[in-house]
Amino acid sequence: MRTMNVAIIGGQFMGKAHSNAWKNAPHFFDLNIHPVMKVACDLQEEPLKKFAAKWGWQETETDWRKVIARDDIDIVDIATPPGVHRDIAVAAAKAGKHVFCEKPIALNTAEAQEMCDAAEAAGIVHYLNHEYRRCPAVALAKRLIDEGKIGRIFHWRGTYLQDWLCDPNFPLTWHLRKETAGSGAQAGINSHSVDLARFLVGEIKSVVAMQTTFVKERPLPGAVAGTFKAGSSGGGQTGPVTVEDAIAMIVEFENGAMGSFEASTFAPGRKNYNYFEIYGDRGSLLFDLERMNELEFFSKDDPEYAQGFKKIIVTEPCHAYVDHWWPPGHIIGFEHLFHHGVVDFLDAIDRKTSVTPNFLDGVKGMQVLEAGLAAAQTGVKVTL
Ligand SMILES: NC(=O)c1ccc[n+]([C@@H]2O[C@H](COP(=O)([O-])OP(=O)(O)OC[C@H]3O[C@@H](n4cnc5c(N)ncnc54)[C@H](O)[C@@H]3O)[C@@H](O)[C@H]2O)c1
Repeated sequence: MRTMNVAIIGGQFMGKAHSNAWKNAPHFFDLNIHPVMKVACDLQEEPLKKFAAKWGWQETETDWRKVIARDDIDIVDIATPPGVHRDIAVAAAKAGKHVFCEKPIALNTAEAQEMCDAAEAAGIVHYLNHEYRRCPAVALAKRLIDEGKIGRIFHWRGTYLQDWLCDPNFPLTWHLRKETAGSGAQAGINSHSVDLARFLVGEIKSVVAMQTTFVKERPLPGAVAGTFKAGSSGGGQTGPVTVEDAIAMIVEFENGAMGSFEASTFAPGRKNYNYFEIYGDRGSLLFDLERMNELEFFSKDDPEYAQGFKKIIVTEPCHAYVDHWWPPGHIIGFEHLFHHGVVDFLDAIDRKTSVTPNFLDGVKGMQVLEAGLAAAQTGVKVTL
């Protein structure tokens, strides 16, 4: 077995999810490449040292450029806000490192394209972490579609709702500023729905959309504020929100299907409600991330007297990734999806091939997201 040294940039929410995956994937999967957790990088030394010690990163560094300059780093894992993805990914690719990058790929399509071009020119493996593709129930949905069990797809209904930004006193974190996030609910959560729609239904051809910002001014953030983590500076100062809080899009797919997307962080009671429905001429599918071990399937091939939605518990050894975890019915969770990404990424490096979603998917997904924002701003249908 080969070893490869990993450097992670960004050590909070996703830093934790990724660290867990780098650390534990080799315990559950047979890998030809063993990831060595070499360097963790974040901006502030004290929290970074704690993070590194907790997860077993051997060294720390506060300047990502120094990390990229090191000859002994093989893989760069980007778990920072989107505003710095492009700079880190392009520099890493040019230095010949493989790149595992969080979504959304970058601030806009131009940046995403730059990343894609640099990665392809360098011949590195690049991966964009839309981890929901690697949920066994979603993989089963893909299999049923590919096997023709849903038939010709008529409708996609994608909904991604959360409630953590609903409180007007939640501070002005990076998620709420265009220069650090690119956009709001569109980049933060609808990017996942768009990725799933592209994966399961196909490419999107045209978009109409509507968006709004419910809370236009927020307290400045304190040192601990971040994703799902409140805490203002306490100084009483506020700043403007420069992204949308909610967006809805109606789309047409290249294959003629119609789709709707609804994304908001202003849906009290909805915590991470990543939900979709797919309707075709032979069957239908329903998926709810908060019940992620289940897939609902309606088949017109069932005898008429027994037709109805059936709930498949996607925990059998025949389901994607499951045989590496637990016996049937012993469910898996959010964190397992990151392991699946790490495993497939390392496998692509080992086999000198590619993995999806990658930076090309990032470009295509970002084109849809940007088209949606443009359509919402102008009120005019945008054709891609
Ligand atoms: N795939 C998912 O399910 C999912 C979920 C949440 C967030 N994300 C994405 O992951 C990325 C990170 O989000 P998060 O929730 O972990 O954010 P976070 O705010 O919890 O953590 C980001 C970390 O990056 C650090 N950072 C910022 N700029 C840096 C720089 N120049 N150099 C080094 N470190 C830097 C910050 O100090 C912070 O510790 C974003 O792109 C976000 O959209 C993905």
